[in-house]
Amino acid sequence: MATKNLVPTATTLFLLLLTLTTADTASDLVRDVEGKPLKVGSEYYIRRAVGFFGGIGKSRRRGPCPLYVIEYQNPGHKGDPVKFVPVNKTQKEIHLSSNIKIDSGKSAICRSNGFWRVIFDAYNRRNVIIASGNSSDARTTFRIEKTQGPLNAYKIVYPLPTTPTRRSYLTVFRDRLSRLKLVGLTDNSARAVVFVFYKKKKDVSIIKPSPSASNAMAAGWRSSAPHRRQPSPKKSAQGIKECKTSILPPEDHSKKSDEIILGFEEFEDDKTSSDEVYALMASRICWRRC
Ligand SMILES: *[C@@H]1O[C@H](CO)[C@@H](O)[C@H](O)[C@H]1NC(C)=O
Ligand SMILES: *[C@@H]1O[C@H](CO)[C@@H](O)[C@H](O)[C@H]1NC(C)=O
Repeated sequence: MATKNLVPTATTLFLLLLTLTTADTASDLVRDVEGKPLKVGSEYYIRRAVGFFGGIGKSRRRGPCPLYVIEYQNPGHKGDPVKFVPVNKTQKEIHLSSNIKIDSGKSAICRSNGFWRVIFDAYNRRNVIIASGNSSDARTTFRIEKTQGPLNAYKIVYPLPTTPTRRSYLTVFRDRLSRLKLVGLTDNSARAVVFVFYKKKKDVSIIKPSPSASNAMAAGWRSSAPHRRQPSPKKSAQGIKECKTSILPPEDHSKKSDEIILGFEEFEDDKTSSDEVYALMASRICWRRC
């Protein structure tokens, strides 16, 4: 009896879902920062949606090959363009959560096809991305997924070839060997970096942070750690306490502020827990604000 009643309900729900998801077919397309669907065959720059960082590119590390996928340190650097290639050859646009390859261009020196590929890196004991793969390799398959955050900003995920329901997220971390900022994988969705795509044009102009903003960044973020900084006597203890309690960890990671996201990225290398990252970031933000 109970199962009989469930059947039509489930079917109705399913049909409703189907209607909702197929009503606007364009809604499952991945878009560039201007809101235009990504075109197969066009070149795009990838960079973070928030914060002042350089674009994503490729670089040699210790030896000349392979080339590693990196984030440029200089926020004015737009990165190296890539092409997105659907695994399903009939598709002319890039659909959300569909299997794609990311083509960074052939490298004659490295004799490689230049598709992004996941490899395990012994120095950092984690998976990183190299710009040196063959598109028929399962480790060159990625997907682009929507985030709850900024418009036309996405996470890039890596479905594990053996268990495709599990996936890892692309993130950026500091390489122990070279001090480059490498693009690698994380299983922690809170540490997934959110990216945007800029179509490569002759007149491409990516907004550079103003000098004052970069200075603030340098002073506020990259210099001393907050717990080592001496409190200024001018700051009111009460004001700081109130400020800190206003920066509570949100339940929903997508609601994290830009500054907190930066904190998570900064402490990516450490064994710092989420709560500790929040506490450190709250101290840092509040010392600046109060
Ligand atoms: C490939 O994409 C086309 C167009 O979106 C779709 O109709 C078709 O079912 C896809 N094929 C596979 C194998 O997913
Ligand atoms: C790509 O990999 C496949 C399987 O390993 C191999 O047969 C093929 O020759 C490779 N193609 C190139 C261009 O390296």
